[in-house]
Amino acid sequence: MAAYHSGIEAPQGIWWKPVHGAEKVWVWIAFASCMVLFAMMPLWHLRGGQNPSGIRHRVDPKAYQARVTQFIADYKVGTDHGMPVVAPPPGSDVYLQATMWQWTPILRLEQGAQYVLHLSALDVNHGFSLFPLNINFQVVPGYDYGLRVTPSATGEFQIICNEFCGIGHHLMVGKVEVVPAGEGGPQAASSAAGEPVALAGDAR
Ligand code: CUA
Repeated sequence: MAAYHSGIEAPQGIWWKPVHGAEKVWVWIAFASCMVLFAMMPLWHLRGGQNPSGIRHRVDPKAYQARVTQFIADYKVGTDHGMPVVAPPPGSDVYLQATMWQWTPILRLEQGAQYVLHLSALDVNHGFSLFPLNINFQVVPGYDYGLRVTPSATGEFQIICNEFCGIGHHLMVGKVEVVPAGEGGPQAASSAAGEPVALAGDAR
């Protein structure tokens, strides 16, 4: 006759027997690995240069758009296929706007000069990738993200959208031109115009 198990009789098992030594060792190895990875998160932020300790503000998309429009009006030096080319003076705040499906404007920056590159979107999430560099930032409507950048090489760099943003996502390509120092365009055309405006409170 076959043996039936029932809930009344406990089945044979080994789970109450003491854990084998090797298993304990592996649990500790796994735990130690977790702790190392956990410690790396703040360490990498502070020492690794991986996460940007940038400037973040909340911003009304309309206010950001107005700031970009002013930025273009202040420093426009030409157009490329209808897109304004803007050459801000070294050291200034630079504004880039993401919309479905373009990056506005084209930026002309000088090699070796420092800028604060502001990124924001007017409609949906976009992703800022500067080809061929290995960077990728979320560009989120409602937030102004300021990155301190110093272009180190001259040339043309494509901005690729790296966050799916609709039917034209694959067409969303912008451009940054990096020119040798002193060739960025009219220098200090208007010193007052470059003042960064407080886009909205809530600096974080
Ligand atoms: Cu913008 Cu994808």
